[in-house]
Amino acid sequence: MSSLPASCAASVDLTGMHTLALAARAAWLCRLDDVAQLADVLASAPRPLRVLGGGSNLVPAASVDGTVLKVELKGRALLGEDEYAWYVAAAAGENWHDFVQWTLAQGWPGLENLSLIPGTVGAAPIQNIGAYGVELKDSFHALSALSLEDGSLCVFTPEQCAFGYRDSVFKRAEAGRWLITEVLFRLPKTWQARLDYGDLRARLGEQTPTPQAVAEAVMATRRSKLPDPAEIGNAGSFFHNPVVSAEQAADLKAGHPGLPVYPQPDGRAKLAAGWLIEQAGWKGRRLGPVGMYEKQALVLVNHGAADASDVAALMHAVQADVAERFGIALQPEPVWW
Ligand code: EPU
Repeated sequence: MSSLPASCAASVDLTGMHTLALAARAAWLCRLDDVAQLADVLASAPRPLRVLGGGSNLVPAASVDGTVLKVELKGRALLGEDEYAWYVAAAAGENWHDFVQWTLAQGWPGLENLSLIPGTVGAAPIQNIGAYGVELKDSFHALSALSLEDGSLCVFTPEQCAFGYRDSVFKRAEAGRWLITEVLFRLPKTWQARLDYGDLRARLGEQTPTPQAVAEAVMATRRSKLPDPAEIGNAGSFFHNPVVSAEQAADLKAGHPGLPVYPQPDGRAKLAAGWLIEQAGWKGRRLGPVGMYEKQALVLVNHGAADASDVAALMHAVQADVAERFGIALQPEPVWW
């Protein structure tokens, strides 16, 4: 290990590097603020390699083996524009929310519904972050990534990323194989406010929405129901909203008229996991040092010195109760190390 770069250290505490704030330690951690550093890391770092951004969708084990690569690449710029759109690039280590607010301040709207989502720009495509009727894929143009096998650079198109609901190729076939360095966005010049989500329209009232006003409404909505990771450890929604057949949704709705059902373009139906969890009695309920949040049952929160085993125990308890009551298998949203 003597040849590891100076930006690497042994036995690093990860508690402050991910938003669930679990007790966790990495055997090795290397900070990357220049892509040129990767070659040295690849030559000498203990395997496996794991890439860390803002840690906002992560459940790390108490003891993480191998090497964590902490992406701290910075920079953002307008790469070009044409009659139809602005093309804006940001390095992977930029804070997502700050980047969104910067694009709005420059007069390049389009990302305002994704305000206040914790995490970094580089992590955003991995799970195709989304909120209030908008997903990252709607503004995504391309990304650059370095291979963790040989350090080679590759550009991914939207098709290659295979975006889905909270999903992309980086969670599937290409999981663990790439370090995303930069993301390029295409922000159309014909802007339209997207206010399909009920709360936003209500918050904006009669005013003609500007991109900034939409961003403010999104931030107010988020603050009203989602816990701030700076105050209480959490990783946002802990489960996916389950997508089921139209028949299964209709059957469930017949037995549970209050169940929120969102028809999908492919004919299937998305169900509100938060509702299922609340009905199963878990809203605001704790198991050991963790619990489901009192204002939003889909968010798992860390009330004290929890570690990944506490999170796993609560996850299994919630999954079992929801499965027993509704016959639905909830799938966790975060990545587990
Ligand atoms: N609901 C309850 N009880 C609860 C929570 C929700 O009954 O405790 C029901 C309500 O009927 C509510 C419905 O569920 O109308 C939907 O809840 P909400 O609008 O809060 O959204 P969500 O489906 O729980 C999803 C995303 C969020 C995103 C919001 C807004 C997923 C897994 N989560 O949550 O994304 O901010 O919509 O678009 O798709 C995240 O992924 O980390 C995240 C926070």
